[in-house]
Amino acid sequence: MSKHRIIIDTDPGQDDAVAILLALASPEEIEVLGITAVAGNVPLALTQLNARKVCELAGRPDVPVFAGCDRPLGRDLVTAEHVHGKTGLDGPVLPDPQMRLQEQHAVDFIIDTLRAAPAGSVTLCPLGPLTNIAMAFEKAPDVVTRVREIVLMGGAYFEVGNITPTAEFNIYVDPQAARIVFRSGVQITVMPLDVTHKALVTRARNDAFRAIGNRVGRAVAEMTDFFERFDKEKYGSLGAPLHDPCVTAYLIRPELFSGRHINVEIETGSELTMGMTVADWWRVTGRPANALFIGDIDADGFFALLTERLARL
Ligand code: RIB
Ligand code: CA
Repeated sequence: MSKHRIIIDTDPGQDDAVAILLALASPEEIEVLGITAVAGNVPLALTQLNARKVCELAGRPDVPVFAGCDRPLGRDLVTAEHVHGKTGLDGPVLPDPQMRLQEQHAVDFIIDTLRAAPAGSVTLCPLGPLTNIAMAFEKAPDVVTRVREIVLMGGAYFEVGNITPTAEFNIYVDPQAARIVFRSGVQITVMPLDVTHKALVTRARNDAFRAIGNRVGRAVAEMTDFFERFDKEKYGSLGAPLHDPCVTAYLIRPELFSGRHINVEIETGSELTMGMTVADWWRVTGRPANALFIGDIDADGFFALLTERLARL
């Protein structure tokens, strides 16, 4: 199997950070062509800064980081400092990055990369609101068919919403963008809350991160110590859900995950259910399948992979 050549589109976010670290620790399976930051968990000025902090934590200041859209398409930005802290990466103290931000806009980097690479050779891995991806598809429709696949974290069905009663945060922040992406015709694999809420950092799993003994293991343990508060308080969870690392782990070991090819549409009309992923899990609509909607994970296998790979950095 050829390695995945990917662009990570992200709004770090502690869980985004772990997803990026896992990707950078797995060069046999993943080549990170670039990281594009988007406004989401915190404003763009912080997500692009945090993305660079994480690259330097991984010892990879060579990875190009680009700033993208600072607000959703046609809606005000909603952020999640209540979950991720005011920096978006609360927990560890990470030094300000020495590596510079790329001059090029993230949307143009996505377009140029897809045009320059062989068709079907680049995978897009959105970990935040889909604004940059949708803008690229709208600005350059020719690149849509050049995408190998999209593997994204977002949405929910049986788990319902985490920011409203019906919507998951990434989709809720920019439902118009999500609608463009889900209707693009690109092959999409979705990591919804249905699966990410089964990837919980229990105390034992966080102790295993800390026991790695390197600065990455310590930083991830400190991120999780901070990040788990929200979910423990709201859901009574056993630990923080590692939402975004499900995306990069899927690229490395897809057999850890299972799901169904179904139709997924995005609510963009009703404020009451805005951003809901209307997942036709029981295939009652007759609408054509447009996504592999993941519902289950081998959580022990996931954490064994993650811990083993973080120890490499
Ligand atoms: O709802 C969880 C998602 O929203 C994760 O990607 C988290 O980082 C936030 O972006
Ligand atoms: Ca994210």
